[in-house]
Amino acid sequence: MTTGFGILGAGMISALHADALKNSQKAELVAVCDLQQERAEKLAGDFAPNAKVYTKLDDMLADPNVKVVNVVTPNHLHADAVLACATADKHILCEKPPAMSLTDTDRMIEACNQADVKFGIFVQCRVRESIRQMKKAIDQGRFGRILRADTIMKWYRSTEYYHTDAWRSDRRNGAGVTVQHAFHYIDLLQYLMGPAKTVQARMDNFAHPDVKLEDTLDALIHFGNGATGSVIASTALWPGTDVRIEIYGETGAAVMQGAAFSLWQFQDERPEDETIRRSGDADQATAGSDPTALASIEHQLVIDDCIDAIAEDRETIIPCTSVRPTLEMVLAMYKSDKEGRPIELPLTDEYSIWR
Ligand SMILES: NC(=O)c1ccc[n+]([C@@H]2O[C@H](COP(=O)([O-])OP(=O)(O)OC[C@H]3O[C@@H](n4cnc5c(N)ncnc54)[C@H](O)[C@@H]3O)[C@@H](O)[C@H]2O)c1
Repeated sequence: MTTGFGILGAGMISALHADALKNSQKAELVAVCDLQQERAEKLAGDFAPNAKVYTKLDDMLADPNVKVVNVVTPNHLHADAVLACATADKHILCEKPPAMSLTDTDRMIEACNQADVKFGIFVQCRVRESIRQMKKAIDQGRFGRILRADTIMKWYRSTEYYHTDAWRSDRRNGAGVTVQHAFHYIDLLQYLMGPAKTVQARMDNFAHPDVKLEDTLDALIHFGNGATGSVIASTALWPGTDVRIEIYGETGAAVMQGAAFSLWQFQDERPEDETIRRSGDADQATAGSDPTALASIEHQLVIDDCIDAIAEDRETIIPCTSVRPTLEMVLAMYKSDKEGRPIELPLTDEYSIWR
């Protein structure tokens, strides 16, 4: 017995969702909805020829076979879609970022709580084996006092990429390296380190003069656990390389590059460390130079977990509540760049960022 999924938004990244659903033993893609019918038809034809095709969300939500909706529309459209799905009693897995404001995110969380439906977010790097191992070692105290947590995302996106859809070059619609691409890795720092106390950011556009967005972010973070963090994130750096997450503590150090470890070392070396060191797939694509070069296994793990969470009536592996602090950090980075000063969290007056 499989669980029926609908995909809302059949654009660039939707094939990853459809592939994950196709590979899942527990899920089945039963419906695809896109304003552009031919996109929905193509996605269904490529991955699930029996899936129903819709051009209006309300029609897909009226389909009783759809139990879970994957929201894969542009970032500024997530909030309305999630609210509609919750009203229709559908469980929701939404692409990142959850929304463009904390106010909308809170409304979405509240609506899902009221409707008693699951609401998870695809910040799927959290389920990567190397990140799971880092998290476990942190929880076990193996790093000792953590001094640094850094992410380095030196990616490349062409100017044409920014013009493939209007929203992709409009900051208010959720474009820009900070809220769009680096969101995953800022999320990993937040997930691993816990909440930030202050963030300071500077944004630049180095390689896309025709696009009115930051293509480069440099941020400094002070975490509540005492660690200092930094984010170097860019889509200006050809040819684009694998992302890195680096954790340095007094008694241990770990560096993930792409999906594998380039460093895993602790003063208390344990028998399992050699296996952990070799875990992760060094060849797994992580979108450094091609936005669609991503393995669907991490989406599949999030999808399978959601089905188990429904059956067991528990939280999903990445509930929206756990991603809200990441959005807060990201919004604080925009505020910091705009005002030229460090921003203390919690963030107040989020709307001043866009004025
Ligand atoms: N998790 C990841 O690794 C990852 C990677 C890339 C993109 N994303 C996220 O996926 C989402 C989609 O990105 P994309 O690059 O595929 O965008 P896209 O613009 O290529 O596709 C979005 C699709 O949504 C459709 N759409 C828009 N409004 C609609 C509506 N009201 N009803 C039905 N369909 C509608 C559009 O017609 C389009 O086909 C974004 O939130 C993005 O941040 C996540």
